[in-house]
Amino acid sequence: MLFEEYWPYFVVGLFLYVTVRVSYVFYKGLQKRNMGLDKKNEDFGKLNRTNQVNDVDMDKDSSSEEDGIIPALPSDLKHIPFNFEKIPEEIAIAKSEEFFEMMNKRRTVRQFSKQPVPLEIIHNIIKTAGTAPSGAHTEPWTYVLVSSPQTKQTIREIIEEEEEINYTRRMGKVWTTDLKPLRTNWVKEYLTDAPYLILVFRQTYSLRDNGNKKLHYYNEQSVSIATGFLLAAIQYAGLVSLTSTPLNCGPALRTLLERPTNEKLALLLPVGYPADDCLVPDLYRKSLKEILVEF
Ligand SMILES: Cc1cc2nc3c(=O)[nH]c(=O)nc-3n(C[C@H](O)[C@H](O)[C@H](O)COP(=O)(O)O)c2cc1C
Repeated sequence: MLFEEYWPYFVVGLFLYVTVRVSYVFYKGLQKRNMGLDKKNEDFGKLNRTNQVNDVDMDKDSSSEEDGIIPALPSDLKHIPFNFEKIPEEIAIAKSEEFFEMMNKRRTVRQFSKQPVPLEIIHNIIKTAGTAPSGAHTEPWTYVLVSSPQTKQTIREIIEEEEEINYTRRMGKVWTTDLKPLRTNWVKEYLTDAPYLILVFRQTYSLRDNGNKKLHYYNEQSVSIATGFLLAAIQYAGLVSLTSTPLNCGPALRTLLERPTNEKLALLLPVGYPADDCLVPDLYRKSLKEILVEF
């Protein structure tokens, strides 16, 4: 009798119960995936020393520490007053124009002078890159600075060997045709001419002092932003560079430079002065109108 009269309330109640239960299970599953700490991981030091472990995306097989998740930064992290000095608008306009003019002169250079560059400048440039924002302040970058002629020669050999295969077999007709106007090929003299090579490695994760994994959220974006800072600092210091992504050379260069397997090569930048007879393609850059959409 009671059920016959009130059955719609029973149905709604049952529906609500099932919805809440399914949402809870789904939420727990998500939490497990995102915040999981992989107990099975090798000790980081061991991983570092042996370099025998294959490239694995450790994010995929992490397990969860359901309760008592400890934040990567101190839980009692102090918040301090922000040191901000407002500049008058006219000066800000002038400064922004000046910065644009300077950055607009930046070009990718493929012929380098062998002229040395003070190490202090390079250190300041890398320090600037280290000021970039990063996902949850994980700072997921390692900059490997190479100035040793022998190491530069080995890097050049590794890259030229791979690049010849890239150009002749891997890249295909469309890609190589698109590159033709830029006059690039697999011979990379700049790798031994430039006084410095900066290899930017992206840390996919790191390990905390207690051996637990520290997740590096948005590490690709963070490293890309930091490389933008690096390029701007190179330009500001009156030097030149070439942004390159050596295709298929990551593992060989990582092994050569003794980086652990949680680090992936993101970019390689020769840094120095341009050669006296340096040429650059006469490229056009999109105008503000072409790149900006305003509401
Ligand atoms: C992600 C990325 C990868 C690049 N890879 C190479 C490369 O492997 N070799 C090269 O000569 N130039 C490379 N470039 C440089 C571009 O060709 C160059 O930035 C573009 O032609 C525009 O010229 P500009 O830098 O002088 O404005 C790369 C640039 C970017 C952003």
